[in-house]
Amino acid sequence: MTARIIDGNALSAKLRGELAAKAAELTAQGTQPCLAVILVGGDPASAVYVRNKVAGCEKAGIKSLKFEYPQDAAPADVLGKIAELNADPSVHGILVQLPLPKHFDEKAVLEAISVEKDVDGFHAENVGRLSQGQEAFVPCTPNGVMEMLKSIDMPLRGAEAVVIGRSNIVGKPMAMLLTAAGATVTVCHSGTRDLNFHTRRADILVAAIGKPKFVTGDMVKPGAVVIDVGINRLPDGKLCGDVDFESAKDVAGAITPVPGGVGPMTITMLLANTVESATRAARKA
Ligand code: GUN
Repeated sequence: MTARIIDGNALSAKLRGELAAKAAELTAQGTQPCLAVILVGGDPASAVYVRNKVAGCEKAGIKSLKFEYPQDAAPADVLGKIAELNADPSVHGILVQLPLPKHFDEKAVLEAISVEKDVDGFHAENVGRLSQGQEAFVPCTPNGVMEMLKSIDMPLRGAEAVVIGRSNIVGKPMAMLLTAAGATVTVCHSGTRDLNFHTRRADILVAAIGKPKFVTGDMVKPGAVVIDVGINRLPDGKLCGDVDFESAKDVAGAITPVPGGVGPMTITMLLANTVESATRAARKA
């Protein structure tokens, strides 16, 4: 059996078309959605992600502002910029690309972003709201995964879901969203004793570990949906996920590729959150 490929580019194109229409409507009414992106330091992967986010905005008719700071930037300067953007009514979303240099207090920076403009969904208040099932900005990568599961009509109620990875950006919010949707969720991590025992039980297996080709076909339950959140660069420059696609695709029922899977969906959900924030602002105006 060869798995169905869940095409993140195709799903993104459809959703971004709908978002562009909404952005155009808001713009015609006098509120052009606007995302401000802050990049600190010269991490090459972060620079690529930010470039893709800005390009995604432009194509959808969302205004973007980019602020770049050197690796040795003073945290006070970045916090000052965030305060300025919080106070600017023409800005609807603020995103600080992570990771930040070591001398930054990442938590303090994320908490400085206004909850109403936290389109990454990383502010503690948004995380708390999400955990309680209240309206909140949902972190983009796990939200994109939920859209992918919806696109294949995956029944979630009662499904066994296993998430490998417990980061604030992916693993934890992923577990919250799957739980809210009625799945039975297990979160595995580096301390998990018998990882294969868990992964082989999973109807939905989400890999967010950060290790190239870590999940192999023998770890997958036949027919399972395998979602690969990893983006790793191999020594030859090629991108690969946390899943060994070649062996997993012969066992899984459906699988996301890398590139062209979860990656584009993350940006799509960022655009969706920005348009949503602009919609709320326009309603208040
Ligand atoms: N670094 C890796 N993923 C993300 C993300 O979704 N948002 C931000 N701000 N930084 C990241």
